[in-house]
Amino acid sequence: MALLRLSLFRLLHIALLASACSAADPYVFYDLKLSYQTASPLGVPQQVIAVNGKFPGPLVNATTNYNMVINVHNQLDEELLITWPGIEMRHNSWQDGVLGTNCPIPQTWNWTYQFQMKDQIGSYFYYPSLNLQRASGGFGPIIINNRDIIPIPFAQPDGDIILMIGDWYTRNHTALRAALDAGKDLGMPDGVLINGKGPFKYNNTLVPDGIAYETVPVDPGKTYRIRVHNVGTSTSLNFRIQNHNLLLVEAEGHYTVQQNYTSLDIHVGQSYSFLVTMDQNASTDYYIVASARFVNESLWQRVTGVAILHYTNSKGPATGPLPSPPDDTYDKSMSMNQAKSIRQNVTASGARPNPQGSFHYGSINVTDVYVLESIPPVTINGKLKATLNGISFLNPGTPIRLADRDTVKGDYKVDFPNQPLDRPPKIDTSLLNATYKGYIEIILQNNDTVMQSFHVDGYSFFVVGMDYGEWTENSRGQYNRWDAIFRSTTQVFPGAWTAIQISLDNPGVWNIRAENLDRWYLGQETYMKIVNPEENGNTEMAAPDNVLYCGALQYKQKPQKHSSSTSNIPGKLRLLFTFMLALYVAIFYLS
Ligand SMILES: *[C@@H]1O[C@H](CO)[C@@H](O)[C@H](O)[C@H]1NC(C)=O
Ligand SMILES: *[C@@H]1O[C@H](CO)[C@@H](O)[C@H](O)[C@H]1NC(C)=O
Ligand SMILES: *[C@@H]1O[C@H](CO)[C@@H](O)[C@H](O)[C@H]1NC(C)=O
Ligand SMILES: *[C@@H]1O[C@H](CO)[C@@H](O)[C@H](O)[C@H]1NC(C)=O
Ligand SMILES: *[C@@H]1O[C@H](CO)[C@@H](O)[C@H](O)[C@H]1NC(C)=O
Ligand SMILES: *[C@@H]1O[C@H](CO)[C@@H](O)[C@H](O)[C@H]1NC(C)=O
Ligand SMILES: *[C@@H]1O[C@H](CO)[C@@H](O)[C@H](O)[C@H]1NC(C)=O
Ligand SMILES: *[C@@H]1O[C@H](CO)[C@@H](O)[C@H](O)[C@H]1NC(C)=O
Ligand SMILES: *[C@@H]1O[C@H](CO)[C@@H](O)[C@H](O)[C@H]1NC(C)=O
Ligand SMILES: *[C@@H]1O[C@H](CO)[C@@H](O)[C@H](O)[C@H]1NC(C)=O
Ligand SMILES: *[C@@H]1O[C@H](CO)[C@@H](O)[C@H](O)[C@H]1NC(C)=O
Repeated sequence: MALLRLSLFRLLHIALLASACSAADPYVFYDLKLSYQTASPLGVPQQVIAVNGKFPGPLVNATTNYNMVINVHNQLDEELLITWPGIEMRHNSWQDGVLGTNCPIPQTWNWTYQFQMKDQIGSYFYYPSLNLQRASGGFGPIIINNRDIIPIPFAQPDGDIILMIGDWYTRNHTALRAALDAGKDLGMPDGVLINGKGPFKYNNTLVPDGIAYETVPVDPGKTYRIRVHNVGTSTSLNFRIQNHNLLLVEAEGHYTVQQNYTSLDIHVGQSYSFLVTMDQNASTDYYIVASARFVNESLWQRVTGVAILHYTNSKGPATGPLPSPPDDTYDKSMSMNQAKSIRQNVTASGARPNPQGSFHYGSINVTDVYVLESIPPVTINGKLKATLNGISFLNPGTPIRLADRDTVKGDYKVDFPNQPLDRPPKIDTSLLNATYKGYIEIILQNNDTVMQSFHVDGYSFFVVGMDYGEWTENSRGQYNRWDAIFRSTTQVFPGAWTAIQISLDNPGVWNIRAENLDRWYLGQETYMKIVNPEENGNTEMAAPDNVLYCGALQYKQKPQKHSSSTSNIPGKLRLLFTFMLALYVAIFYLS
């Protein structure tokens, strides 16, 4: 009885905390309007996807635990979903913005996302998740600041700079989609954009006249935090700033061991923060470069982004050749060794006061192992498709948890194989059956010919190892069991594997996908279904009031009124928590 009392008391305590915490955590409101806009970043006019008229989109700025209310307006001519990779959406896969969990927002409609930046800090970006739209834009940065009470593990920088780098095509996403649908490769991109702008004219032959480029003004002697995101389609980029060291401090929401790099490889979907001190003599401006990596650079010269670092006391423009990229044509271990050198600072506090290393992952026993193998695209039923373990994912007609709730049968299967099987590839809606509270290991085996990056929604994971060749049990001998980086997007080199470990404490249905847009579009993704067997409405949130219906549940969808008045969302949430609290009190007394 005493024990029972205690646990009920704890439940009550948790309820009180949850209620107090959520009422106290501020709400911030954003409106994001996605629409087409004409721009000529590479000198060729094209339709890009702007957010609130800006390309890239505006910053979503928050602090740990803020409650976000983000009203997304679809002013495109096709369906839309915005996804927020790296934001863990605790217990709330309803807000994740991918087709396995959300119905798409129809054109001319808007839909309000509501989620909490629970226990998170750092640099991320949002983007449209459907139909290759990201190749036309629609992305923008996210910052989650530390709470004042938790110090950051470096001196407060003098300023904050965001650089969104990415390969770019002058064809728009519908044209690129048509190429993939016709079984073609996307081919070499036409350039690299930095903050939506083309390259500075560093070479008269390579860069045409009249291209607008990005200029970053800085003061001499000051130190800036530069947040860099690879928002591109499929190209890994080498990032560097002429004559300046990049002190790496953060990778996707986790503080790293602070180390200087002269350049860093940033793969599609990845985010980093660097501290850069303006310690040069300002004899000229300096080049900021993002150049294509792991390709023949004499053929890919035009796939180079160049912005300008401009000291306020600069004596003239940047001239001469760009700073050289890493020279490792004959050394394929260099970039991988750099990736392994990115480790977590175990003593630094992240979003919480306790050190990031307090979760001693190295001593946890792995409960399940999944080997997910990617191979080059294959033809299935006459269509070009990309696979994981021989399965090209077909999105369910009805989002998975909604299908569960409203007992839509046959929407999906939970039979994703734990390893590649010797059978012909197929197109299927097949999910991984993952165990709530398990500690799993996923081996991403890349038998494709291209550099890949993989992302997991709903979680950060430990990148415990990577190497060339085929992963075997013996590969575990080389794992980093102490300070592996904890992040949400990892690179997987061609002909190599990357091992990640995930503690499955976030119930819901969570996407695992290739970040390379072509591979993703062709079906290289799946979902983990993680259900708490004792689910009592506490661990996984119920669908939000505004949940959209589609597929087998389309009949439940009410048409959208465009003149509806603003609803009092925070009020509703507070009401919900008060109700929960009352429920706990009732349980307490009933016992
Ligand atoms: C995209 O490009 C295609 C072909 O170039 C063009 O027909 C179409 O209108 C463009 N779409 C948008 C939204 O601009
Ligand atoms: C973001 O929010 C923080 C904390 O409220 C504020 O200090 C900072 O200036 C904001 N940044 C931008 C770019 O608005
Ligand atoms: C659509 O936006 C309006 C305000 O512009 C808002 O009142 C309404 O709640 C939004 N609808 C949804 C489903 O989020
Ligand atoms: C510009 O690029 C072309 C083509 O790669 C090269 O031949 C030329 O030397 C470059 N010019 C300068 C001034 O670097
Ligand atoms: C990084 O380089 C800067 C000079 O750019 C130097 O002042 C600093 O001490 C270096 N930090 C580390 C950790 O090596
Ligand atoms: C400034 O730095 C550049 C490059 O490091 C060097 O070539 C030049 O001599 C320096 N000029 C002065 C005035 O110190
Ligand atoms: C890169 O391409 C050029 C031009 O086609 C070719 O001459 C060169 O051999 C290639 N380099 C490598 C390393 O494949
Ligand atoms: C790790 O973080 C601590 C703050 O907790 C900081 O003092 C230290 O310099 C950091 N170490 C490295 C190597 O980045
Ligand atoms: C992990 O497994 C080993 C051997 O199977 C066992 O001795 C150990 O107690 C387990 N550790 C934990 C933390 O469960
Ligand atoms: C998923 O795994 C659990 C055990 O972890 C098992 O009880 C359940 O039947 C499995 N579901 C499916 C559909 O295989
Ligand atoms: C994948 O690559 C490994 C090592 O490079 C090789 O041993 C294996 O046979 C390949 N598997 C397939 C299905 O191609």
